[in-house]
Amino acid sequence: MDRWIAPGRVNIIGEHTDYNDGFVLPIALSLGVVCAAEPRADRRVRLTSVQRPGELIDCSLNALGAQRDQLPGWARYPLGVVHEFVRRGLPVGGVRLDLGGTVPIGAGLSSSAALCCAVALTLRDLFAPDLGKRALIDIARAAENHFAGVPTGVLDHSASILCTAGHALFLDVRAFNSANAGATEQIPFDLAANDLALLVADTGQPHDLSDGAYAERRAQCEAAAAALGLVSLRDADADDPARLTDEVLRRRATHVVTENARVLAVAQRLRAGADPRVAGPLLTASHDSLRDDFEVSTPALDLAVTAALEHGAHGARMIGGGFGGSVLALVDHAAVDRVRRAVLDRFAAEALAAPRVFPVEPAAGARRLT
Ligand code: GLA
Repeated sequence: MDRWIAPGRVNIIGEHTDYNDGFVLPIALSLGVVCAAEPRADRRVRLTSVQRPGELIDCSLNALGAQRDQLPGWARYPLGVVHEFVRRGLPVGGVRLDLGGTVPIGAGLSSSAALCCAVALTLRDLFAPDLGKRALIDIARAAENHFAGVPTGVLDHSASILCTAGHALFLDVRAFNSANAGATEQIPFDLAANDLALLVADTGQPHDLSDGAYAERRAQCEAAAAALGLVSLRDADADDPARLTDEVLRRRATHVVTENARVLAVAQRLRAGADPRVAGPLLTASHDSLRDDFEVSTPALDLAVTAALEHGAHGARMIGGGFGGSVLALVDHAAVDRVRRAVLDRFAAEALAAPRVFPVEPAAGARRLT
């Protein structure tokens, strides 16, 4: 069988900005979801996953929508993509899909987007070769939003499909959604040349975007924009949040406005060829804002950030939606072991389960493997 891979992502900066028409700056990981696939002569989908040994899902292509509620949660992601092809009237036939891969689930590294993107790319190559990357992103996101029922923004799927090795992807979400030129830019992000490393600390406390808190943050951002008379918080100036009388909305808006400014500042410095260490304080400011104004951090995420910073990280912050998941730290290559040890020791001292701490590098986006 042929195989395709779609990577998970780490967002360097720009959290909870994507659904506010703002800016994000992700990299793709070398960790990804691998989809092995072959067409079938009938119109059935047969699905397995190495993470679900012994389970085989066998569905008629034409009955996916009707069967959605009977499907196990994990199968709604890949089958949502198949359903989206059918729903859009795209050519798609019976297919065997065997899923595997290396992105940890619930770590805030977009395993679910990687899964949807891997299946979308597979189906594109097998049945609908004319589909462009933009359509793949839309299909993967629609599957996750409507079939799996998880209200994500466009960050994760764009990162998985569009990122390239050695670069961070600057994405202007409003421009991207309007298909404007200049919406995406590959910004060179060379860690090794600067004796730098990016460490991820997965707290092991799974985040779950379907639990309502993420949707609540989105609704608060919309309410803040409406109260300011704006289409979205992308249009808010630095002094606009202070005009909000509701204190919670004011803090949510403050995060989005300051976070967008931080993304632009990091992108501008990297674009100009600056030492990436200059991004460090902006990463830490992003964490403070996510913790205090957006209120999506957790004590374990805060602990990992503090431990990394106290042991020489140039900057550190929680990544992804929050409420669990992972922390990212920008560290000198020579300090990787020290920072890793510090995070592990601090968790042990608090009697928390040992986090998984590992380096990541800007890797290639989704592609065919064989
Ligand atoms: C999750 C969502 C993304 C984005 C981030 C927060 O990962 O899937 O669309 O909103 O949270 O930046």
